[in-house]
Amino acid sequence: MLNIGVLVSGGGSNLQAIIDKIESGYIKNVSIVTVVSSKPDAYALERAKKHGIKGICISRKTFNNIDEYDEALISHFKAHEVDLVVMAGFLSILGERFTKAYEGRVINIHPALIPSFCGKGFYGIIPHQKVIESGVKVTGATVHFVELEADAGPIILQKAVYVQDDDTPEILQKRVMEQAEWEILPEAIRLFAENRLVIEGRRVKII
Ligand code: GAR
Repeated sequence: MLNIGVLVSGGGSNLQAIIDKIESGYIKNVSIVTVVSSKPDAYALERAKKHGIKGICISRKTFNNIDEYDEALISHFKAHEVDLVVMAGFLSILGERFTKAYEGRVINIHPALIPSFCGKGFYGIIPHQKVIESGVKVTGATVHFVELEADAGPIILQKAVYVQDDDTPEILQKRVMEQAEWEILPEAIRLFAENRLVIEGRRVKII
């Protein structure tokens, strides 16, 4: 059994997609042992509760510095014997201690095709606004291993989504979630759980 801990900050639709694929049996031998929110009022915590999953808020604001925040997260995940940390719409920044302690065992979903529309400041609705402003015809989502630098780790899966002429950022965000994020994030977890991801430098081989 692979124990996963899920980091969230908002609505939790990606968390829901993972829960649904575990409950349907598409993802086997995986258990969500804890959901950690950066915000106390995140709807993601309600979703966890509805499915009998323990949730907690650990907010960066309540710590003096990033090292203390990292240590709190590390001890929480250690106490829950977490094997894989999944950032599913997590909008706080993780520090060096955390990324080192869980190297190769943290994955993130980003709502654009990395290395475009990513990095510092590109989160939530913002990548979709920038995509529309830029005039690109294709965007999508990326699941990648997490390194200290934002959105920079080895890429596991990507899926493209077309931008339509009359898209607003909100309409595009919804399409990217439905057509890409909710598919590739659970899929990456399934591949990890089946030991099918091999990191070779910047590349992730799926075996
Ligand atoms: C998702 O679009 C996710 O890709 C994005 O926040 C949204 C959360 O939605 N994450 C980032 O921007 C991280 N850089 P959700 O709470 O409904 O899953």
